[in-house]
Amino acid sequence: MLEVKNLSKHFGDVKAVNDISFSVGKGEVFGLLGENGAGKTTTLRLLATMLKPTSGTALVGDYDLVREPERVRRNIGILFGGESGLYDRLTAAENIAYFGELNNMEKSELDRRVRELAEIFGMEEYINKRAGKFSKGMKQKVAFARSIVHNPQIMLFDEPTSGLDVSAVRDVHEFIQKCRDEGKTIVFSSHSMSEVEKLCDRVGIIHKGNLIAIGTIEELSSKFKGDSLENIFVKLVGEKNEH
Ligand SMILES: Nc1ncnc2c1ncn2[C@@H]1O[C@H](COP(=O)(O)OP(=O)(O)O)[C@@H](O)[C@H]1O
Ligand SMILES: [Mg+2]
Repeated sequence: MLEVKNLSKHFGDVKAVNDISFSVGKGEVFGLLGENGAGKTTTLRLLATMLKPTSGTALVGDYDLVREPERVRRNIGILFGGESGLYDRLTAAENIAYFGELNNMEKSELDRRVRELAEIFGMEEYINKRAGKFSKGMKQKVAFARSIVHNPQIMLFDEPTSGLDVSAVRDVHEFIQKCRDEGKTIVFSSHSMSEVEKLCDRVGIIHKGNLIAIGTIEELSSKFKGDSLENIFVKLVGEKNEH
């Protein structure tokens, strides 16, 4: 599981992430909802050990984010939106294996795992072809497989559906649900209310680096007297923008 403790990241005067705390259990999907510039990517980059916190830390599985970043890295899977980040000149299998090597997986275990993932995601026909000419959907499957090659317990998704067409969005949603069914601990960020409503067990609303509300959608509805996540969000963020 994941326990974020008073995590902050400041860039000069900008408090990109300001003293946020939340925890996410096994088999739970936690949605980080916020406008552009709210601090979602910075939060996820901190948890992925790609940035060092200004203060605070997190317990990622059994490991401390600040003191044991290498161990943390081995326990997390990352899927960030935008470009898939595959190497065009490598085959699908090589792209996946490369990530496994970065995670210190052994060659024999890695070969077995790549075959297994090819089957799970239906990539057998192109697993040994170079990624450069793949369609978007094929690339997406390789990116899914790569993110879980080392069987991480904790998954971080940063706006994984941004810029995707309808069927690719559906594939991402199914992948997140599959990770949840496997008992993984999941944090994903989004600025789409409907996506968060559909997928999340609990939601954190982030605004200007602050976590301004946290709970299940039912809890937020009764606390902030809104009949939809959108109403609650507009109410909370609108109020803050006036001040
Ligand atoms: N490397 C950086 N240097 C300076 N400011 C940054 C950096 N990364 C993010 N920020 C600022 O931190 C804030 C939060 O950004 P970000 O986490 O990307 O938000 P989101 O992902 O919610 O759109 C923004 O004001 C952004 O301009
Ligand atoms: Mg972002």
